[in-house]
Amino acid sequence: MCYLCGMIDQATIQKIFDSADILEVVSDFVSLKKRGSNYLGLCPFHNEKTGSFTVSPAKGIYKCFGCGKGGNAVNFIMEHEQMSYVEALKYLANKYHIPIEEKELTDEQRREQTERESMLIVTAYANEYYQYQLWHTDEGRSVGLGYLRQRGISDEMIRAFGLGYNPEEWGAFTKAALEKGYKKEFLVKTGLSIENERGMFDRFRARVMFPVQDLAGKVIAFGGRTMTADKKTAKYLNSPESDIYHKSKTLYGIYLAKKSIIQQDRCILVEGYTDVISFHAKGVENVVASSGTSLTMEQIRMIRRLTPNVTIIYDGDAAGIKASLRGIDLVLEEGLNVRVLLLPDGEDPDSFARSHSREELADYIAKNESDFIHFKTRLLLKGAGDDPVERARLITDIVRSISKIPDEITRSVYVRETSRLMQVEERVLYTEIAKFRLQHTQETREPERPTVTVDPRGARGVTPCDLEEMMIIRYLLLFGKVPLFEEEVDGYTREVSVGEFIIRELSEDDLEMQNSLFRTIQMEYKQHAEVPDFDPGRYFITYPDVKVSTVVANIMSEPYELSKIWYKMDNLVETEEMKLTEILPKVLDNYKMRRIEMLSSEVDNRILEIQQGDPAELMDLLKRKNTLNKIRARLNERLGRTGVR
Ligand code: CTP
Ligand code: MN
Repeated sequence: MCYLCGMIDQATIQKIFDSADILEVVSDFVSLKKRGSNYLGLCPFHNEKTGSFTVSPAKGIYKCFGCGKGGNAVNFIMEHEQMSYVEALKYLANKYHIPIEEKELTDEQRREQTERESMLIVTAYANEYYQYQLWHTDEGRSVGLGYLRQRGISDEMIRAFGLGYNPEEWGAFTKAALEKGYKKEFLVKTGLSIENERGMFDRFRARVMFPVQDLAGKVIAFGGRTMTADKKTAKYLNSPESDIYHKSKTLYGIYLAKKSIIQQDRCILVEGYTDVISFHAKGVENVVASSGTSLTMEQIRMIRRLTPNVTIIYDGDAAGIKASLRGIDLVLEEGLNVRVLLLPDGEDPDSFARSHSREELADYIAKNESDFIHFKTRLLLKGAGDDPVERARLITDIVRSISKIPDEITRSVYVRETSRLMQVEERVLYTEIAKFRLQHTQETREPERPTVTVDPRGARGVTPCDLEEMMIIRYLLLFGKVPLFEEEVDGYTREVSVGEFIIRELSEDDLEMQNSLFRTIQMEYKQHAEVPDFDPGRYFITYPDVKVSTVVANIMSEPYELSKIWYKMDNLVETEEMKLTEILPKVLDNYKMRRIEMLSSEVDNRILEIQQGDPAELMDLLKRKNTLNKIRARLNERLGRTGVR
């Protein structure tokens, strides 16, 4: 019944979840130390000095108590490697040598999936073809390889970046690909070949080829550089947008930089293909390029997954400066820390790296990076001098940038800095910032996250009962199979488990949870409650709907927040499990009361609405109201007796 992944059959998914050892999976990326029954390390999802990232092999989950990220092995791979659910499953299947049995797909799904896959396969072939041309043909070696070597790009870098060459013929690649049996359709869809009235020919001709990889290392596009200095030919020709290549979501070099970005906890942003390569050649590997487009939000968010710190390096010319100013605000807006590095006039990162040694490059970066305030001040003051109007404009400009920073503390640090540099009172700056921020909020920004620690937002957003429902779900997951009390049925004594009690209590009054994720869990639990050996925690942690499995992992790894509530309520000191018989009925009754109140007022409203309307519906409503009243009376009595609220 997997409606989400739609491609890998359920048994295989289960096998993957069974084999994927959370400790092994995480250890490929994070170094962990044993602490009691858990493991501890530095969180790969946010910047921290002391570890708050824990892995629980027993529960099969990870959780960061610093940034709140948590989940199972599949979630970890999805988050860390930026993969989809299916991609993460495939990654793990590969790691654990589990053959993937492809499930029957709908025609539409099969078409889409095979189409993307076919496009990737054609692209991979092209990558091979271009590299072969570069290294093993006369034209490739003399023209392509010759050009790269003469530019000072080492063979090692040419190999590392998979650079290639496409010969100066109308259709050399297309012809070779067709002969190999690759379909015309995908050659055209990837843009590698172009078809018109006269036939099929190559998009790239007589160009050195730069393959563009996605975060997972798959080649999704190419940039081809012309060998001629002729101004009329575009210097770079790029693959067109397609189902596998979205320029605004791609960063050149991200695959090769990923590890170093995490290690250095910083991402350096440059403009071009050659900038990235030359930095790598000098040992600076945490570098990616926006490849000629102006930086996009999607690109910044991709970086943010790896590090909150960005250094923007642009050419020292006017265009470079303008581009970096635009970049700064966008990066700030996404909540990242940004530094800027301007190179000496006339240099670009590529030329600068080539003409300096490893040490000089590292040294130059370290010494000349400045935070954006200093960068802007220095830059704009040059033009402004002592002109008061220009100075005011400069201050406004800086303040506007600061106002984009989401974090208040960070803003205050920059306000202090600006105040000092520009000799303006902080109070004045704050007033200006407040104005700008008001403007931003009116430009409708994302709503603030609710303060619930476990974010139960599913398809239908936050509902008023989320917290209560989460507590109940938590009891189901953690203690579902724990016996709660004994009851007599037809002269037999039988045990009633926590799970059975919860499900029964909710069904008794026909209550379905409001939050769609919790409702799914409630319904699935109900269906499986009778199954022998049903292990709710495990079942839901490996649930194929990743929204469900994530919320479950979060709930199960967050004991403190929730238990505290109960400690406060009843001054409890014992463990929750010991107190279940006492607590659980209260929790359920309280929740039911809330829901009954809500349902009652819905019914009341409807009654008012249709006063003169359909008498049959009115009858129904009144009956319903009567039932609700009875339930309410019963709950009131019980709650009164137990003395809660
Ligand atoms: N670019 C592009 N199309 C162009 C020009 C540039 O896509 N016609 C992109 C490329 O990704 C290029 C980047 O913008 O790497 C930066 O452009 P530029 O600085 O002009 O190129 P360089 O990377 O410096 O290339 P080279 O050193 O080969 O001149
Ligand atoms: Mn260049």
